[in-house]
Amino acid sequence: EPVGAAEKDNKRLVVVSNRVANLNAKAQTGGLAVALGDALSASQGLWFGWSGETSVDAKATMPKIETKGDLTVATIDLTPEEMEGYYLGYANRCLWPSLHYRLDLALCNEEHANIYFEVNARFAENLMPMLEPGDMIWVHDYHLIPLAEELKRRGCTSRIGFFLHTPFPSPEIFAAVPHQKRLGDALMRFDVVGFQTQSDRENFARYVCGFMNGEELAGDLLTAQGQTTNAAVFPIGIDVGGFANLAKQGDGLPSLLPEAPDGDMKTIIGVDRLDYTKGLPERLRAFEALLEQYPQHRRHVRFVQIAPPTRETLPVYQDIRREVERLVGQINGRFGDLNWQPVIYLHRPFPQDVLARLCRESAVGMITPLRDGMNLVAKEYIAAQRPEDPGVLVLSRFAGAAEQLREALLINPHDVNEMASTLDRALTMPRQERWARYNRLRQRVETYDVTNWRDSFMQTFASSDDDPVNVFAK
Ligand code: ADP
Ligand code: F6P
Repeated sequence: EPVGAAEKDNKRLVVVSNRVANLNAKAQTGGLAVALGDALSASQGLWFGWSGETSVDAKATMPKIETKGDLTVATIDLTPEEMEGYYLGYANRCLWPSLHYRLDLALCNEEHANIYFEVNARFAENLMPMLEPGDMIWVHDYHLIPLAEELKRRGCTSRIGFFLHTPFPSPEIFAAVPHQKRLGDALMRFDVVGFQTQSDRENFARYVCGFMNGEELAGDLLTAQGQTTNAAVFPIGIDVGGFANLAKQGDGLPSLLPEAPDGDMKTIIGVDRLDYTKGLPERLRAFEALLEQYPQHRRHVRFVQIAPPTRETLPVYQDIRREVERLVGQINGRFGDLNWQPVIYLHRPFPQDVLARLCRESAVGMITPLRDGMNLVAKEYIAAQRPEDPGVLVLSRFAGAAEQLREALLINPHDVNEMASTLDRALTMPRQERWARYNRLRQRVETYDVTNWRDSFMQTFASSDDDPVNVFAK
């Protein structure tokens, strides 16, 4: 399948991201790897990023090149110090919490920040010899904000676009991040800066105008300090047909979950990396409140939470794991029975087909992050449903997906009682209402799928006039 506009103009697409999907693996955790893997698997071009490995001689080693069909994947290792300072340090201890409104968790160490900027320079250094004139370079996520600046410093004249997979917080939050000015300037060096939602884009525009002395021009253009960029919205999506087909494969097979003796057992499912942004303790407390306040559901509902490990060496991730595991034990000990386990908690990755089948078997998808760029699982849950008897999506207002998936039951993830009553509503919702909501949601998930995301970004990126495509205006 062609890569939209880049290919029509015979331009090569070069994607750069910290995490590169393992295109041979069945399980992939993390929205960026899943979406880019789907967007690029059948494409031509070059994908450059971190191998996921560390080695002491990484700086003296050439990129490792692999070919997957027409796609070339080039990766470099990080040194242990780079892993610590760039990935675990500035990117994931400072930027990640700040972008998700958690300044209280942001730890910014000067040495880590220096290494973050140095690794971006090393990415540029390694990428430059692989570039060809006219390439369109598409950079992804908060790990690589300084990359356009570093490439241009080395004489790169290609157009360079950026997509932020996380939220862009309100400008007062972003302005509090150490090195924010350098980051703001670096973002303005991209030709296109893409965001998940209108509200992320507005936050960025308010930052540029309010904190960088910039201004909004016609269309989606923003200008500050002599640089102009096209800031637009491209909500990321999934491979809807692919996920739906995986989900259907289980039809006619025995259920993946144990059957209740009387056949009357509903499943609520959650699938998230075990990250503090995902609101897992609040979600567990809401399930506990459901069992407490709506005793009719006891023995007739179970909550399956799949939460694979992520960034495990950071103390704040160890804390959230302890808290989640304590709550799971507390709920199971308090409400469970010899033949009923209220919470099934699984701390590992699963193949996509198993996730898809579990979503199809579940009456409720509970996606309640405290903040999230988009949240692909919300879209996967919808894609997996049986059209004739669909389940109900309970979705956080603070997930980017809530801007599109308005017919979900939208909740405040900080309000445990509201979540409990919404779970009761979802578990008892008549089929007609479930069906009406599902139909609208499915349509929107299908329209804004991963191909639409990729192609609309490429179209804006390729257009030489200043009249970019606004996906919400279609
Ligand atoms: P994030 O990018 O913050 O991890 P998303 O919800 O956008 O959040 O993307 C997560 C992706 O990772 C989804 O495609 C989801 O199916 C996948 N995923 C999450 N948990 C697992 C798991 N245990 N095993 C395999 N894939 C998972
Ligand atoms: O989608 C947001 C994101 O931060 C991606 O950039 C990242 O790949 C993913 O979540 C998973 O995190 P990590 O790459 O740190 O395992």
